[in-house]
Amino acid sequence: MVDKTEKRNEAAERYRRLTQVGPGTPGGKLMRAYWLPAGTTASMKEKSVRPVRLLGEDLVLFRAPDGSYGLIAKRCPHRGVSLEYGLMDPDGLVCPYHGWKFDNAGRCIDQPGEPAGSTLKDRIRIKAYPVQEMGGLLWTYMGPSPAPLLPRFDVFVQDGRTRDVGISKLPCNWLQTVENNMDPLHVEYLHMGYTNRLRKEQGLKPVSQRHHEKVDYEFFEYGMLKKRLWEGDTEDSPEWTTGHPVVFPTMLAIVVQDDWWHAQIRVPVDDTNTIWYWYNAKPAPEGSAPQTEIPVWDNPWMLPDGTADLEGVNGQDMGLMVSQGAITDHDEENLATSDRGVVMFRRALLEQIDRIEAGKDPIGTLRDPAKNHPWIELPRETSLGFSFVGARFSAIHKY
Ligand code: FES
Ligand SMILES: [Fe+2]
Repeated sequence: MVDKTEKRNEAAERYRRLTQVGPGTPGGKLMRAYWLPAGTTASMKEKSVRPVRLLGEDLVLFRAPDGSYGLIAKRCPHRGVSLEYGLMDPDGLVCPYHGWKFDNAGRCIDQPGEPAGSTLKDRIRIKAYPVQEMGGLLWTYMGPSPAPLLPRFDVFVQDGRTRDVGISKLPCNWLQTVENNMDPLHVEYLHMGYTNRLRKEQGLKPVSQRHHEKVDYEFFEYGMLKKRLWEGDTEDSPEWTTGHPVVFPTMLAIVVQDDWWHAQIRVPVDDTNTIWYWYNAKPAPEGSAPQTEIPVWDNPWMLPDGTADLEGVNGQDMGLMVSQGAITDHDEENLATSDRGVVMFRRALLEQIDRIEAGKDPIGTLRDPAKNHPWIELPRETSLGFSFVGARFSAIHKY
């Protein structure tokens, strides 16, 4: 009996290590070892100061008139006003209440109400994180110094592509959203089988229905590769020989069709909320001018009545993840043979946490600038071996 309780306590602790993202938590240290998107350039053009909650921290993201960005604590250290209502000066963000001004390093550089010669402002400093723009996303690093390099993955920077990004907000923990990527079978049972049941009821033609003959997983420099062999394909199928990556800790990169690249990045807002960026990079039409802005669109998972939109592929994934609960009770799961990828992923995350706690870099930490130029080529199969035509795959626009 004691044994059972101990085992449960151990498991509960293990899942806390994986799911919690706040400052000082093991999982929070893991997230803070990587650059994460904090916003988009498009939204900052509309409004130059925005509140951002990231890894359980309340921050404001701002765009200075010279086009540089800052990410600093939301609470004004004077008397606690939210700096989301601040206004931009060329050199910093000005609190609306008494005009204290903060630069993008979190230094207080002006206190207009204080007597000349006052040194109070020199003793005030608030939290500030670096921001870098890449591919229309604003990336930040919230971990200890020295910051690693922001990896220039091809999907975000390769020339000759037209890009756009969808955004979804999910009221659930990040882990259950990313585990979906290590779970190839759900494609067969949910996106194909379930979709076809719905389509049959509606008198619609079925989408392609295929069966996984086998699946496999392996590590690569930036995370893990997921491979599948569909029944009827030969072993030289790129989905089996190459597969596609899950870049640690939270990004999937796939090819949709005809060189249309797609990435999905899940960013923990806090323990029970996740932002999901759906990132498309399609071949640019011949002769088109380079994009000056990467458009952003909403990608909802919910119907107006608050239930999951299960007719589309993205609504199926997101709606079911949300239905698992705010932080799904991993301890109550009955993991099966088909969950090998999920188990490997959890184990790999726990190993990265152990590495960080031992003062080492986790997998995918980039510190060699030579590897980062002109970009990092991700391994990915040439295309998915199935088509969602007719399945309203709105994650990558509806088609
Ligand atoms: S509360 Fe911000 S300047 Fe006073
Ligand atoms: Fe899916």
